[in-house]
Amino acid sequence: MRSTLIYSPEVRVYPDAVAVAEAAAEVFARAATRAVAENGRFYVALAGGSTPKAVYQLLADDEASGRRKLPWTGIEVFFGDERCVPPDHAESNFRMAHETLLARVPIPAANIHRIRGEMDPQAAAAAYEVELKRVVPSHHAMLPRLDLVLLGMGQDGHTASLFPGTPGLQETSHSVVANPGPEPASWRVTLTLPALSAASNVLFLVIGAEKAPMLRRVLQTDAAGASYPAQRVRPTAGWLRWFLDEAAASQLNART
Ligand code: 6PG
Repeated sequence: MRSTLIYSPEVRVYPDAVAVAEAAAEVFARAATRAVAENGRFYVALAGGSTPKAVYQLLADDEASGRRKLPWTGIEVFFGDERCVPPDHAESNFRMAHETLLARVPIPAANIHRIRGEMDPQAAAAAYEVELKRVVPSHHAMLPRLDLVLLGMGQDGHTASLFPGTPGLQETSHSVVANPGPEPASWRVTLTLPALSAASNVLFLVIGAEKAPMLRRVLQTDAAGASYPAQRVRPTAGWLRWFLDEAAASQLNART
C-alpha cells in the first residue's frame, strides 16, 4: 500500500503577533545556545519582509537588557533571500535585519553573510552559494545544512523569494539562485527548495487575517498537492513548525 505523503507540519497558534514574536525569539535563543554549546557554531538564515521584525527587535532588546544573552561570536547569520537592491535601500532585507538586530548585538562583522543585492543577480547568487558552502557544513548531496531557517509566507503562498510559477522553484541542485521578483523587471536572490529543505529546522512565522485564506489552503485543503512554494519546504533532518497568530489561523478547521 503506497503511503500517501501527508503534509503535516507542527502548527502552533498564539493569541497575537507579540506572542508569536516571543515564541519565535525563544526558539531562536534555545537553538543558538544549544548549537554553539554542542558544535561551537549556529548557522541561521533570517527571513525578510515585515513579520520577523518583531522577533529581531525582541532579540536585540533582550541582549541590551540582559534578559537573554546569546553567544553571538558563534552565530553565523545568513539570509533566506534578498531583493536586488543596495544594502541601504528601504526594500533591503539586510537593512531591515541590520537595523532591528545585527547593529544592536555583539556579532562579529565576519559572521554576517549578506547577499550582495547591489550586484548583478546571477553573480550575486553564485557568490552567495560559494560563501554558504564555505561556511556551513554540508551533510547530504553537497547541500549546506543550516541549523535553523526562519521563513515567512506571502498571500500567494510564496516563501523566501520563491514565487509561484517562477523558475527558481524548479532548481534541484544549486543552493542559491537569482529569481524574478513580484514587481515587473525586479530580481531577487533566494535560497532554493533543496537548500531550505536541507536545513535541520524550519520555522514559518505568519501573522494577520490577510494570510488566513492562503494558510487554509497551504495547511489544510491543498496540503497533499504541495502546489504552493511554502508547502514545498520539507526538512527531513529535524522539525518543521508554523507559528501563527489567531488572525492568520482564523480560517483553519478547529484544531483537535
Ligand atoms: C521577503 C521575504 C518574503 C516574506 C513574505 C511575507 O523578502 O519579503 O522573503 O518571503 O517572508 O513575503 O512577508 P511579510 O512578513 O511582510 O508578510
